[in-house]
Amino acid sequence: MKRILSVTAAALVFAGASMAVAELAEDYVFVEPTAQDHPLDEIISGYQFRIESTRETQDDDFENPGMLLLDQAMDTWSEVDGAAGKSCADCHGDDPLDAMKGVGSTYPKFTEEGDHRAFRNIENQINHCRTERMQADAWKYDKNDMLGMTVLVRNADRGEPVDVAVDGDAAPYFEQGKELYYTRMGQLDMSCAHCHEENYGNYIRADHLSQGQVNGFPTYRFKWQGVGSLHRRFSGCIKNIRGIPFKKGEDEFLALELYTSWRGQGLPVETPAVRN
Ligand code: HEC
Ligand code: HEC
Repeated sequence: MKRILSVTAAALVFAGASMAVAELAEDYVFVEPTAQDHPLDEIISGYQFRIESTRETQDDDFENPGMLLLDQAMDTWSEVDGAAGKSCADCHGDDPLDAMKGVGSTYPKFTEEGDHRAFRNIENQINHCRTERMQADAWKYDKNDMLGMTVLVRNADRGEPVDVAVDGDAAPYFEQGKELYYTRMGQLDMSCAHCHEENYGNYIRADHLSQGQVNGFPTYRFKWQGVGSLHRRFSGCIKNIRGIPFKKGEDEFLALELYTSWRGQGLPVETPAVRN
């Protein structure tokens, strides 16, 4: 992989930071990539880069603040909403964690019904069911209803390996996502790869840089004092390099979501993960 580190950007961003590779726990877990052309030798969850107390908070369902939204979504699941007089449960069954098994680890992907064929992430699929099938209002991105239901869908696959399809119709999204990943952006003129491929393991200011894996989203962050979507995290990273983020839920971020999911192919779904 070509080094894309720009000297000015690096000087700005990594200023004063120790470039020594910080130690991961001795027994850190990783997944070996199966794809021939995978850019990483080891696929490592962001979990491994966080301090022990953060990991413990994630591991304990009673401590993990993300679980509160999951509980709320479990209730919402059977609440009737919209002009069609339906709840999620009416069509998908009473046990959401059972109904949604095998779903969360495979998104984003193409879904279809009649002529409604589109490339969707979980958020967009939920809104598709709400607007088309329930005649209910769309939920807003990054509001609690949407976050909670997305956490629920992903959590039903917690522990399952991320398994997205990048061939066939999804291939153009994969290519677009890959291109975005390696494109320099913002006033600092940096790409995702600059930090998450070339420099993971290093410190950037006080933050131990990970591979920017997406297997824990939506994620609870102490900084946010709440749960946030993957597209919110993408936006934050782009703003940090003083760029202008794409719109949540739209094509560029869907493409980036597919591509980053593929970079983490095989990692267990951790939703709701806990990060600093
Ligand atoms: C200037 C360095 C930098 C750049 C460039 C950058 N990020 Fe990040 N990113 C961070 C830091 C710091 C964190 C928090 C610590 C960590 O998990 O690496 C982070 C976290 C993340 C996470 C959360 C990981 C987890 O385990 O929860 C994702 C996903 C992510 N970045 C994706 C991206 C994408 C996609 C891009 C390109 C659009 C990008 N980042 C560009 C610095 C960067
Ligand atoms: C009127 C019936 C109906 C209602 C109500 C409904 N859905 Fe759906 N939903 C479907 C159908 C049909 C599909 C496509 C077939 C399938 O995958 O089950 C679907 C697909 C999905 C999928 C993708 C499943 C997959 O395998 O990829 C998710 C996620 C989903 N719905 C979530 C919800 C949620 C959350 C609600 C409530 C907010 C809801 N749905 C309400 C009918 C409905």
